[in-house]
Amino acid sequence: ATEPDLRERHVVVTAGGTREPLDPVRFLGNRSSGKQGYALASTAAARGARVTLIAANTSLPDPAGVDVVPVGTAVQLREAVLKAAADADAVVMAAAVADFRPAVYAPGKIKKKDDQDPEPIALIRNPDILAEISADRARPGQVVVGFAAETDNVLVNGRAKLERKGCDLLVVNEVGERKTFGSEENEAVVLGADGSETPVPYGPKEALAETVWNLVARRLS
Ligand code: PMT
Repeated sequence: ATEPDLRERHVVVTAGGTREPLDPVRFLGNRSSGKQGYALASTAAARGARVTLIAANTSLPDPAGVDVVPVGTAVQLREAVLKAAADADAVVMAAAVADFRPAVYAPGKIKKKDDQDPEPIALIRNPDILAEISADRARPGQVVVGFAAETDNVLVNGRAKLERKGCDLLVVNEVGERKTFGSEENEAVVLGADGSETPVPYGPKEALAETVWNLVARRLS
């Protein structure tokens, strides 16, 4: 049986991928399905936590006993995270958040003009939510966990990202055919700000979620 070691805790999880609109029919997005974030939410609920799941553009069933807040863009995700994090014991950012968004939103569908090259799309920076909540904790002792999907130099890039973002733990997963984006399985190394490295072998996303909560629960106690 699962130990209720997150009872009386409020945890916030983000899942899915943000979409940054270009015009009424197009957006810049990514391949996140939300499965890893949903696995984190359902396992935390099973361990007794009150869970707020901030879901960006997912099409998965709501996990039982979890409060789901749907969002679209990075700016909306930031608003929802800041609100929910105010009284949270832990925040786990599994969502793939767009670093940039189109500088201009065209209120009408952008038309293809014959005999003309396409216009380049100008981008502007989105807020870095993980860096912001790590630097400015809503309550003392709040545990902040980031994710990083990398394609090369996974551990070196992960360690640099952990330091840049200022979170307590960073789950580094390598982008691959049968893991990370969209699949049921994942494989990762959880890096700690204390220098620790916890490898999680290839397996269901729930198994990685349980390891994350083990590390979070240890830091909360
Ligand atoms: O949803 P699935 O299909 O199950 O796939 C899971 C996943 C691959 C999306 C997930 O495991 C994962 O790795 N999520 C993070 C994806 C990523 O590449 O993140 P990043 O390296 O762009 O960002 C690093 C961290 O900063 C993340 O915690 C992200 O939520 C956060 N971030 C990023 C940009 C930004 N503007 N604000 C942020 O807070």
